[in-house]
Amino acid sequence: MLTTTFLNKTFANPIVLASGILGVSAASLARAVKDGCGGVTAKSVSLEPRSGHPNPTTAGMEHFFINAVGLSNPGVDAAVEELKKFKELSVSPLIGSIFAGTPEEFAVVTEKICAAPIDFLEINVSCPNVSKEFGKPFAYSTEAVEIITKKVKAKATVPIIIKLSPNAWNIDEIALAAETAGADALCAVNTISGMIIDCHSRKPILHNKQGGVSGPALLPIALKCVYDIYKKVKIPIIGTGGICSGEDALAMIMAGAALLGVGSAVYFRGSEVFEKICEEMEKIMEEEGIKNLEEIRGAAHSS
Ligand SMILES: Cc1cc2nc3c(=O)[nH]c(=O)nc-3n(C[C@H](O)[C@H](O)[C@H](O)COP(=O)(O)O)c2cc1C
Repeated sequence: MLTTTFLNKTFANPIVLASGILGVSAASLARAVKDGCGGVTAKSVSLEPRSGHPNPTTAGMEHFFINAVGLSNPGVDAAVEELKKFKELSVSPLIGSIFAGTPEEFAVVTEKICAAPIDFLEINVSCPNVSKEFGKPFAYSTEAVEIITKKVKAKATVPIIIKLSPNAWNIDEIALAAETAGADALCAVNTISGMIIDCHSRKPILHNKQGGVSGPALLPIALKCVYDIYKKVKIPIIGTGGICSGEDALAMIMAGAALLGVGSAVYFRGSEVFEKICEEMEKIMEEEGIKNLEEIRGAAHSS
């Protein structure tokens, strides 16, 4: 009922672990598959290892999660070894993820990560938390996204997915620029910029002051982004942002998503959330007489 084909690859269900939630370790990624994910995305990695921002880097509130982890990662060479180990543990589709400070560096990291047995490569041009080092995210500019997509596409040996930012007011135009430049798919969305302030200390809670907001509060924003992008492009979209339940997941499919990225829901509902979301989707589909996801993909556009 939930089996999904995405760029010629079969996923047992459309739920994909979102990037950055369980790192790049083979054991953690394999655990997510055991917990019910149809596929997994590894944490974004860079050319060199990064320690990220000082603590506190994350905070969970009733309706949202906020983080400014600062893209801490072991570097692409170490990640390649972990991703090889993952494929020994699991046959599940694997999405690698990279980021870099310049288009040229994106090309170098692409070449390196393609030594790993990844099925797809996600390009993180949209992290809102590292602007002090890298300037504003590339995902805010059609020109930058076009240049990076072309550079990556020229080096990648697997289909590429450009990950977009909900902070870009013209996300659909950015999506079109990525498609025109050769992207095979899109992921929408990364976290949206935000901050939290402690009223007693009168100070921002995160050390980085600002962070990226995810979880339930992001869902309506992500739905609108996916809805707008679906209208503008033909390539498939991984709808990501705030999905915590079967209802959320089906709504994202109706906005036009092909696959569903799930991240912060692990914080809100525990590691078994992937299986729970699938069960809830199937229950609603049975009640509504929906035989498969193709029947309802993009359904919200016909009203
Ligand atoms: C702690 C944390 C770390 C993240 N790290 C990355 C990352 O390395 N690369 C990336 O593309 N997105 C990263 N994200 C964004 C998620 O992949 C996802 O796009 C976002 O959290 C929205 O989905 P959600 O509401 O289901 O969490 C991170 C999110 C969180 C909460």
